[in-house]
Amino acid sequence: MLLKINNKIIIKNNKLIKNILINGFYCKIKRCGNMNKDYIINNYKFEKLSEKHDLSRFDCGNNDLNDFIKNDALNQQEDNLSATKVVICDGEIIGFFSLLSDSIELKKIRDEKTKKSIKIHLPRVKKAPAIKIGRFAIDKKYSNKGIGSNIMEHILLNILELTADVGMRFVLIEAYAKAYNFYVKNNKFLNLKKDDMKLEKLDKIIERNPQHTFYLYHDIKKLKV
Ligand SMILES: CC(C)(COP(=O)(O)OP(=O)(O)OC[C@H]1O[C@@H](n2cnc3c(N)ncnc32)[C@H](O)[C@@H]1OP(=O)(O)O)[C@@H](O)C(=O)NCCC(=O)NCCS
Repeated sequence: MLLKINNKIIIKNNKLIKNILINGFYCKIKRCGNMNKDYIINNYKFEKLSEKHDLSRFDCGNNDLNDFIKNDALNQQEDNLSATKVVICDGEIIGFFSLLSDSIELKKIRDEKTKKSIKIHLPRVKKAPAIKIGRFAIDKKYSNKGIGSNIMEHILLNILELTADVGMRFVLIEAYAKAYNFYVKNNKFLNLKKDDMKLEKLDKIIERNPQHTFYLYHDIKKLKV
């Protein structure tokens, strides 16, 4: 059952969502200077990227992502190639994410039961509808504090909300090797079977080629209770 509280979609009896529900009722404790984790988690909001956002001080520590949000994101959005939201708290940009439509080849899905059930309903196609998180980053001032995981929960819930209007079954991401644990261990994304062996050497990959990416996916249906 879906409930709407404080403009956030939540689902009853789901652990993920209970967090947000609890957060929705936290007291607001205003702090001076740098904001602390709890303050941010209870007060951030998503805003569609526009020219009014000052991104000059945003730095997630990755040049490609910094360059994307400062120079490309708005152009892509104007051309309907991706849509970007900034995560903002007290006027400061904490992070951003970009979404675009995509699809996943059924053969990439690990879980045979899931694959079979999709094939029953889509017998003539080899792909399932999906949405891709094209970019996701948190300002390095606020990273490694659990804020990214909280925001990811919120993004997944927003995507779940979109499924009321558009068929999409999976969330996809091509994750930097360095962010693999963030997505898979902390946020329940799955890697492709073909990468299982490679992932045994994750530390070496991060060291030698930090730009290496892994294709990951999340079954949106599993977010429902
Ligand atoms: C990857 C990224 C989005 C993660 O966001 P984040 O806010 O740092 O994520 P979290 O803090 O929730 O989790 C990151 C780490 O902090 C740890 N952490 C979680 N809660 C914590 C807390 N309260 N205190 C300290 N550490 C915590 C997590 O265990 C996690 O560690 P691990 O990933 O090494 O296992 C962010 O670091 C980033 O933007 N990096 C640069 C750009 C990038 O690589 N983007 C991803 C593109 S694929």
